[in-house]
Amino acid sequence: MHNNKNILVTGGLGYIGSHTLVKLIERGYTPYVIDNLSNSNTDIINKVKEITGEEVFFLQGDLRDSENSNLYYIFKNFEIDSVIHFAAFKSVSESTKAPLDYYDNNLNSTIQLLQAMKIYGVKNIVFSSSCTVYGQPDSYPVNELTPIKQAESPYGETKRMCEQILESSQKSDDLNVVVLRYFNPIGVHESGILHESPKGIPDGLMPYIIGVINGEYPFLRIFGDDYNTKDGTAIRDYIDVNDLADAHVKSLDIIDGIGFETFNIGSGSGYTVMEVVESFRDNGTDIAFKMFPRRDGDIESIYGDISKAEKILNWSPEKSLNDSVKSVLNIKSWMKYHQC
Ligand code: NAD
Ligand code: WQD
Repeated sequence: MHNNKNILVTGGLGYIGSHTLVKLIERGYTPYVIDNLSNSNTDIINKVKEITGEEVFFLQGDLRDSENSNLYYIFKNFEIDSVIHFAAFKSVSESTKAPLDYYDNNLNSTIQLLQAMKIYGVKNIVFSSSCTVYGQPDSYPVNELTPIKQAESPYGETKRMCEQILESSQKSDDLNVVVLRYFNPIGVHESGILHESPKGIPDGLMPYIIGVINGEYPFLRIFGDDYNTKDGTAIRDYIDVNDLADAHVKSLDIIDGIGFETFNIGSGSGYTVMEVVESFRDNGTDIAFKMFPRRDGDIESIYGDISKAEKILNWSPEKSLNDSVKSVLNIKSWMKYHQC
C-alpha cells in the first residue's frame, strides 16, 4: 500500500528513528533517511529490510553541512512532503560536560534544516522534543499548558530553544509544526532485531538494565530511595518505542494546515524505578541492584496527560510496561547490543 508521500527522516538510523521507519513503511510512506552515523550504524538498513521487505533510501550526511550537502540533494531530487526531525545529541549528562557540542549540533542542525525546507518549499515538520522541558513540575500529570521551565541541562535547553525556533519559523514561513514531547522511551521491535545500540556506559535506566542482564555490569545502581513516592524511588512515564513511532505517523495524518501544535507522548501513567525492576522479575529475570544516592539533576516524579494526543492525533499507546519489558527480554543480538 503506497500513499505516494515522501518523508525525510533525519537521524533515521537511531533508536526512535529506526522504529519509525518500520511504521512509515507499513503505512505506505516512502522514507528518505539522512544520518551522520554519530550514534548509529548502517546495519539498521538491513534490519528494517528484514522486517518490512523494503530497502530504505539512505545518505550519510550531517545536517549542519549546508549547500551541496546530501540534505540539499534529497530535497532537490525527491519531492519531500514532510520532515520528521530526530537528529540530535541526546545525553543529559554528556551535555553538561560538552555544552557547546550540544548547542552546536542540536540548534544548528535544526536551523540548517529549516533553511533548506524554506529553499525547497517544504512546509511540514514533526520535531522530537522531550518532557525534560517541564523540569520538575509542581503537580502532575503535566499537560501541554504546564509552564515549561529553564531546563536542568544544556540538552534540555536545546529542546526548549528548538521549540522556540520552530514556533517563530512557523509564523514567518507559514509552516506546519508538530512538536512531540516524548516521555521515557523504552522497549524494542517485536522481532528482537531492532534496538538501541548505546555507545559507552549508558545513562538511561533501560539500557543499563540490559547491560546488567547481559553481564556487562554486576548490578543496577538505583539512584535515590528517599524520594516522596510509594517505595522511595523516582517516578517516570515509560512509553514503548513502537507506540512512540506510531505517534509520528499519526502526526503526518493531521499535519496539513495544523499551524503549531505540541503533544505529550507518554503512557499517561507513572512507575517507580523499583516497579520497573519488579516487572523484569515478574517476567522471570531478576535484576541485581544496589541503592545509591540521588543522581545530580534528577527530578522526583513526572508523568504526562496524553489526552490531547488521544483526541487530536487519534493516537493512544497500545503497549504496557510489561509488554516493553517482554520485548527487551526478546532481544536477539545481546552481544551486539552495545557499540564499542
Ligand atoms: P539516537 O541517538 O538513537 O538517534 C539520533 C540519530 O541522529 C543518530 O542516528 C545520530 O547518528 C543522528 N545524528 C545526530 N546528529 C546528527 C546530525 N548533525 N546530522 C545527521 N544525523 C545526526 O537518539 P533517539 O533516542 O533515537 O532520539 C531521537 C530524538 O528524540 C532526539 O532528538 C532526542 O533528543 C529525542 N528524544 C529522545 C529521548 C530518548 O530518551 N531516547 C527522549 C526524548 C526525546
Ligand atoms: C529514569 C529513572 C534515574 C539509570 C532522560 C532525559 C529525558 C529523556 C529520557 C531525552 C531516573 C533512574 C537511571 C540507572 C537509575 N531523554 N536510573 N539507575 O533521567 O528520566 O530522562 O532520558 O530526551 O529528557 O531527561 O531517564 O532513563 O536516565 O532515568 O536508578 O542506572 O531511572 O535516576 O529516576 P530520565 P533515565
